Amino acid sequence: MTDHDAVPGAPAAGPAPAPTEHPAVPQATATTPVPPPAPAGAGHVSFTPSHELRSALAGVRAEVGKAVVGQDAAVSGLLIALLCRGHVLLEGVPGVAKTLLVRALSASLRLDTKRVQFTPDLMPGDVTGSLVYDARTAEFSFREGPVFTNLLLADEINRTPPKTQASLLEAMEERQVSVDGVPRPLPDPFLVIATQNPVEYEGTYPLPEAQLDRFLLKLTLPLPERDQEIEVLARHAAGFDPRDLAAAGVRPAADPALLARARAEVRQVQVSREVLGYATDVCRATRVAPSLSLGVSPRGTTNLLATARAWAWLSGRGFVTPDDVKALAHPTLRHRVQLRAEAELEGVTTESVIDTVLGSVPVPR
Ligand SMILES: Nc1ncnc2c1ncn2[C@@H]1O[C@H](COP(=O)(O)OP(=O)(O)OP(=O)(O)O)[C@@H](O)[C@H]1O
Ligand SMILES: [Mg+2]
Repeated sequence: MTDHDAVPGAPAAGPAPAPTEHPAVPQATATTPVPPPAPAGAGHVSFTPSHELRSALAGVRAEVGKAVVGQDAAVSGLLIALLCRGHVLLEGVPGVAKTLLVRALSASLRLDTKRVQFTPDLMPGDVTGSLVYDARTAEFSFREGPVFTNLLLADEINRTPPKTQASLLEAMEERQVSVDGVPRPLPDPFLVIATQNPVEYEGTYPLPEAQLDRFLLKLTLPLPERDQEIEVLARHAAGFDPRDLAAAGVRPAADPALLARARAEVRQVQVSREVLGYATDVCRATRVAPSLSLGVSPRGTTNLLATARAWAWLSGRGFVTPDDVKALAHPTLRHRVQLRAEAELEGVTTESVIDTVLGSVPVPR
């Protein structure tokens, strides 16, 4: 198995890759998608991603594979999100291993994970935590909500009303929770994986575009191929218990410290002025695409650059190519654009519009 064989062609939309520690990265303005001081025309660069770090992440992939059959693209997407400090929307019908994937990922990276089922009656405090009164000390103390974790699986985020959605989205953006005026930082890494069921819209509260834009990627988990489904059954027949990942042999292959080192390397990945121009043109083209009523925001442009860099690094390169941008265009952009109703009736899809854009924007050589 190669380091990463599957392009994360499914996910999209994420919150900007969060403030990085890199002083040279102008994260503050969405209109300057410029990464570290990349010399214009870079491409022949001395930096090579470290073999040690990349093989540890390949190990994570192998560990996840002990529990989850296939879904390689989603695994790639989740690794990219961890490298970019971005959040992920995960779409898939029930029973395609969304929960299993998140649990296996956290076990193979020594990350803490929690799950919240977003129901119509869930309150903001059920997510972030709240002040509770201690009768013995006669004082209020803060009881942390499930958001205080590394990997938060926010199941069926669109089943909860906007107020509770907003409390999660605020925590995602600020990486802290403020209760009673006191800010409490969330752990690092902190990644929200929010699931949505693509077929059920009854009684849901779809996330507004402004909130979708905060997700780095939107990944989709397809139904397995026949051979993969047989393999799932074979594992079950051999005694696989999805509740006991340790028994399935899933072991940590990396940890948060290693992840932090990998992130630091991703920030050194060079991007030429030409490739910056290409990523920008792809995003700008969505704003004038006739089938779209909403194109990609400048935050989306910066996110595309971030995911393409992480992908270049995972691919063992110290520089970004136009193909990296293409590879990440679908998962990074698909949730940030909106189809016109007429186009939808004609059978146009978000994916087909992104393909058209990728086919029409001139690729620098
Ligand atoms: N690709 C797969 N690899 C391994 N097991 C799988 C796969 N797809 C489904 N399964 C099996 O299906 C079970 C259900 O998976 P899981 O609970 O993770 O689904 P889910 O997508 O989270 O569903 P829901 O939307 O209902 O929460 C798993 O425990 C596993 O046994
Ligand atoms: Mg689940």
